[in-house]
Amino acid sequence: MSAQEPIGVIGAGWVGLVTATCFAELGHEVHCRDIVAEKVETLRNGRVPIHEPGLNELIERNRERLHFTTEMGDVLSNAHLLFCCVDTPPTYSGDADLSRVETVVSEIGDSTDHAIVMKSTVPVGTGRAITREREGFGYISNPEFLKEGTAVEDFMHPDRVVVGASAESQGFADRVAALYEPLGGAIVRTDVASAEMIKLASNAFLATKISFINEIANVSEELGADVSEVARGMGLDSRIGPQFLRAGIGYGGSCFPKDVSALKQLAGNSGYHFQLLTAVIEVNELQKRRTIGKLQKHLGSLVNKEIALLGVAFKPDTDDVREAPALVLAARLQGEGAHVRVYDPIALERAREMLTGSTICDSALEAVDGADAVVLVTEWSEFRDLDWDLVRERMANPVVLDGRNFLDADALRAAGFTYEGVGR
Ligand code: UGA
Repeated sequence: MSAQEPIGVIGAGWVGLVTATCFAELGHEVHCRDIVAEKVETLRNGRVPIHEPGLNELIERNRERLHFTTEMGDVLSNAHLLFCCVDTPPTYSGDADLSRVETVVSEIGDSTDHAIVMKSTVPVGTGRAITREREGFGYISNPEFLKEGTAVEDFMHPDRVVVGASAESQGFADRVAALYEPLGGAIVRTDVASAEMIKLASNAFLATKISFINEIANVSEELGADVSEVARGMGLDSRIGPQFLRAGIGYGGSCFPKDVSALKQLAGNSGYHFQLLTAVIEVNELQKRRTIGKLQKHLGSLVNKEIALLGVAFKPDTDDVREAPALVLAARLQGEGAHVRVYDPIALERAREMLTGSTICDSALEAVDGADAVVLVTEWSEFRDLDWDLVRERMANPVVLDGRNFLDADALRAAGFTYEGVGR
C-alpha cells in the first residue's frame, strides 16, 4: 500500500476530527462518518463544532480531501483502515460504556478486507473480546495521546505511536505504522492488550503525578515550603521530569477521571485491588473540598457570600467542561449557601445547563463585581492580564484563591489582596 492510503474515521468528535484532519494534511483522502446529521452538515459547510487551536485552518486547507458522511457504507467502500474514534463514557460503576464501539464493530460485519483501528480508549481485553468470535477480523489498537488544546501539534509531533496487533493482523499493523512514519515519532509495535494497557497506564501515571504534587502542596502549606519551588527542584531530575507537577485544585477533563476509574475498576474486576489509584482519586476529590475550606477560613460561613469563579473549562484553550473542577466547586459552594458568579472566555455555552443556580457573567469584571472572594479555577491568560486594581475596587472583599498558582502572588499582595495559592 502507498503512504497515501485512504482512511476511514468513525466518529467526528474531538479525537476523530483531529485524526481525520491531520491525516488529510498528510495527503490522505479521509472519509469521516458521524451519526449526528447536524454535525456532518456543519462540517460539510466548513464549520468546526469544537474549539481546538489550529484545527479550523487545517480543515479549511484540506477540505477537498475531507469527506463527511452519516453513512457507514460510504466509508467502507472508500477505505480499508477504519479509525474508531467514538466515545467510551464511564458508566455509574466506573466501567467504560462500550456500546458505541460495539455498534461500529457490528456495522463492519464479517469483512476481512477492513481493519478496525481502535483509537477510542477501551478496557484492556476489549480487542481480544471483539476478535474472539470473528475469525480474520482485522483489529489494531492504536491509542491516542493527544491533549486538548494542543491536539494538532501533538498529532503532528508524537512522542510515540503505539500500534498493537495480534499475529493475524500484522499486515494491517504494517499499514497503520506506515501512516505515522512521516511524523518521525517512535513507533511501538506490540500486542493488543499491552497497547490497551499503555494508554490507561499512561493517563493513570500522569494523574498520579498530579495527585502526588497536590499532596506535597498540602504538606508544604503546613511546613512552610513553596510547592512551585519544590516542583522546580524535583523536575530537574531527568528521572522525574518537570511536567505534570503543577499543583492545583485537581485534574479534570474527559480523560483522566474516566481512565483512572476505569483502570481501578478493571483491576478490581480481575480480583486486584489497585490501592494507589484509590488514593489518587481521593486526593483529587479532596483538593476541591480543601478550596472550600480555604474560603471558609477567610470568610467564615459562606451563606449568602458572593463567590466569583474565573474559568469553567477544565483547562485553558478548550471549551470542554467535562469533569471540570469549576462545576463541582459551583455545586458545593451553592450547597454551602453561597451565591456563585462564573465567567469563562469560551466554555460558558457548554456549561450553561450544568451551572443552574449560578450567575453567568459576560466578563471577568462582571463576575468579580461585589464578590467576597475570587477563585481562579482555569488558567486562561486573560485572567493574568486583568486590571487587578480595578478588580479590587469592584470586589466587596479582596480575597483571591489562586487554584492554579497562576497569578503573580507578590503583585497581588502588594495591590492589597489577600492572596492564597495552592501549596505556596
Ligand atoms: C490527557 C493526556 O494528557 C493525553 O495524553 C491523553 O491523550 C488524553 O488525556 C486522553 O486520554 O484523551 P487532556 O485531558 O487533554 O489530556 O488534558 P491534560 O493537559 O493532560 O490535563 C488534564 C488535567 O490535569 C487538567 O485538568 C489539568 O488542569 C490537570 N493538570 C495537568 C494539573 O492539575 N497539573 C499538571 O501539572 C498538569
